[in-house]
Amino acid sequence: MPERVFIEGGVPLRGEVTASGAKNSALPLMAASLLLPGELVLENVPGLRDVMTMRLLLEHLGVRCRGDNGTISLDASSADMWDAPYDLVKTMRASVLVLGPLVARFGHARVSQPGGCAIGARPINRHIKALEAMGAAVWLEHGYVVAQADRLKGAEIVFEAPTVTGTENIMMAAVLADGETTMINAAMEPEVADLAEALNAMGARVEGAGTGEIRVKGVSSLVPTTYSVMPDRIETGTYIAAAGITGGDVTILKCVPDHLKAVIERMEKAGIAVDKGKDWIRARGGGRTSAVDIITDPYPGFPTDMQAQFMALMTLSDGFSTVLETIFEQRFMHVPELCRMGADITLSERRAVIQGVESLSGAQVMATDLRASASLVLAGLGATEGVTEISRIYHLDRGYERLDEKLASLGGRIWRTGG
Ligand code: EPU
Repeated sequence: MPERVFIEGGVPLRGEVTASGAKNSALPLMAASLLLPGELVLENVPGLRDVMTMRLLLEHLGVRCRGDNGTISLDASSADMWDAPYDLVKTMRASVLVLGPLVARFGHARVSQPGGCAIGARPINRHIKALEAMGAAVWLEHGYVVAQADRLKGAEIVFEAPTVTGTENIMMAAVLADGETTMINAAMEPEVADLAEALNAMGARVEGAGTGEIRVKGVSSLVPTTYSVMPDRIETGTYIAAAGITGGDVTILKCVPDHLKAVIERMEKAGIAVDKGKDWIRARGGGRTSAVDIITDPYPGFPTDMQAQFMALMTLSDGFSTVLETIFEQRFMHVPELCRMGADITLSERRAVIQGVESLSGAQVMATDLRASASLVLAGLGATEGVTEISRIYHLDRGYERLDEKLASLGGRIWRTGG
């Protein structure tokens, strides 16, 4: 029987919860193991379906993967394949992160072209153009991107607009390239900086990651290292929203408040009291939150990966708010499901207008993508009557480590059946 999550809402969440390692940092860090003919040990790796998919892909490429429970060892000494097959890429677009490392280390890569997905078309043209600028021959055949280069050459790359995995792919490619690569208009997300820090610990020479201009001086080889994945800022933001929507009092431990400035600013404006230290955040709800507008933007703007969760909070806020999604054109699949729970949301192209309602009621709803499922969980926690039943929760397990168990530990009435 397919797994489902059930929620009986209306209980203020209280207590402490620890943020897991970041999915969107763990995935590129795992791909970076391909650059190294030796062992890369990663700590604080979250237990997620996407991490498992990346592991399967690396094993397919000949990487020896060992360990679990947060620490994994990846050894690409005898990696001998350079194709990322359709079956793996279609379940996880982040598989494209092996493209740069494979060309850099082996001179060849054959990676299934990621198709569209629930949140939009998501092309990889910027990754390809940058590899070409570094001297790779890149062509498409039978649904695959094939790239070839004896040794990549450093180049000046100007991204027409920032791309997170594109910046990461090219950073990894540039690490072993001949000469210096400059990336202008690079993505500034903390996960990009985390990857650079890990690469530098492996002997790479990357400067400027976390800003819009990154410089990479190519080196001839890398050395084994151990690196700890940074905390997940989107999971952290989801717990802040959970405190707000239930009128609770939640402290998130082992997080990086600095990575959540735009999120915290909007949450505070909505009336959630936020206290923070170097590596913790305390979020207190209470009373009805106020309607606040958001526009999603590349970092340091409000993250698209928190849009659906923030919208869940706004459904119960006082007044009307607008959400403008500028990153992914179709990232509104949660809207009809939230409306089935009593939310009042009108969509027009990339803008959603949310009229806050007095209450939500539990309903049977379907998860459509990772962050949409998190927003349904939040709405379920905030619903004061009935039970919410969420199907297709594999989406949730792709990117949240034991979210239901963690919320239950805060007093949430949430449980899982089936499987
Ligand atoms: N884009 C292009 N061409 C390209 C690359 C991107 O047109 O070659 C467009 C995209 O279609 C999109 C925008 O540029 O409109 C930004 O996309 P980006 O490449 O930055 O996204 P991504 O690297 O595919 C990562 C995260 C996403 C997150 C986005 C935006 C990982 C593994 N994934 O995706 O995470 O939403 O950045 O911040 O890091 C999630 O975790 O739920 C998730 C979807």
